[in-house]
Amino acid sequence: MTIKNVMVIGAGQMGAGIAQVFAQAGFDVKLNDLSEEALQKGLATMEKFLSRNVEKGRMTEEEKTETLNRVETTSTLNDANDRDLVIEAVVENMDVKTKVFQQLDQITPKHAILATNTSSLPITDIAAVTERPEQVIGMHFMNPVPVMKLVEVIRAIQTSDETYQTVEETAKALGKSPVEVNDYPGFVSNRVLMPMINEAIYTVYEGVAEPEAVDEVLKLGMNHPMGPLTLADFIGLDTCLYIMEVLYEGFGDTKYRPCPLLKKYVSAGWLGKKSGRGFYVYE
Ligand SMILES: NC(=O)c1ccc[n+]([C@@H]2O[C@H](COP(=O)([O-])OP(=O)(O)OC[C@H]3O[C@@H](n4cnc5c(N)ncnc54)[C@H](O)[C@@H]3O)[C@@H](O)[C@H]2O)c1
Repeated sequence: MTIKNVMVIGAGQMGAGIAQVFAQAGFDVKLNDLSEEALQKGLATMEKFLSRNVEKGRMTEEEKTETLNRVETTSTLNDANDRDLVIEAVVENMDVKTKVFQQLDQITPKHAILATNTSSLPITDIAAVTERPEQVIGMHFMNPVPVMKLVEVIRAIQTSDETYQTVEETAKALGKSPVEVNDYPGFVSNRVLMPMINEAIYTVYEGVAEPEAVDEVLKLGMNHPMGPLTLADFIGLDTCLYIMEVLYEGFGDTKYRPCPLLKKYVSAGWLGKKSGRGFYVYE
């Protein structure tokens, strides 16, 4: 199957970016959110990103206008009734996601593929709430979506080869590099990244070094573009804690226990950049 049109559910930081890359690649896009404010904010983010591309000579003003014209916003989920592919990027909450998938299963055409951008929730369990589990898959974009090349494509145990191939081809059509992984807690990206971030937090907790020193070691010694504690602040410390809990519970292995300092920061509302304070203070 060739995908021609898509709907992105959720117009937050990920959804707006996903809608943008599909529109830039020429797909007909519907962007859905419950909140009209989120839709307007999503469009404004897209416009800002594309304007920067025009300024830098990466695209023309006409291409920018054409891209934006390919995106239609809607707060009605029923508008998914003519879509080939739907990518869900709502909040990281299993109850919310399963409800969206059950509705999409009723609304979308029989041939439609239903993908989720979840960072950590089991795709197999999401697929199981639908009557088309073989057409459900994980399409894990990285933040910021227009910049990052990777799409981690996660196969639920039920996902068919045909669904996988269609999604792989679609990711390539976006100019992205799809990488195939199977559905286990944290997939590959967060299973490797999050324990490193958690361990970096332990070094601060145990007084091994200050946050700045930890970040310098990884930047200068391992050539990481940013230190793990800065990255944790950008991702959001609540999200980091949530993913560590998924790993800890999913594998039942104490090596994934979240650092008490991470829990304490989250309890204090120190969530990183978005709240103005995490391991660093933001204006
Ligand atoms: N932030 C990241 O770095 C990152 C990276 C990869 C994947 N993800 C995953 O992407 C998903 C979205 O994350 P985000 O950071 O964009 O979140 P966000 O909070 O910025 O956006 C979520 C949006 O979903 C909307 N929403 C909530 N329930 C909805 C519903 N039932 N129908 C339609 N819209 C609904 C909200 O109004 C909000 O605008 C999550 O599953 C997250 O784990 C996030």
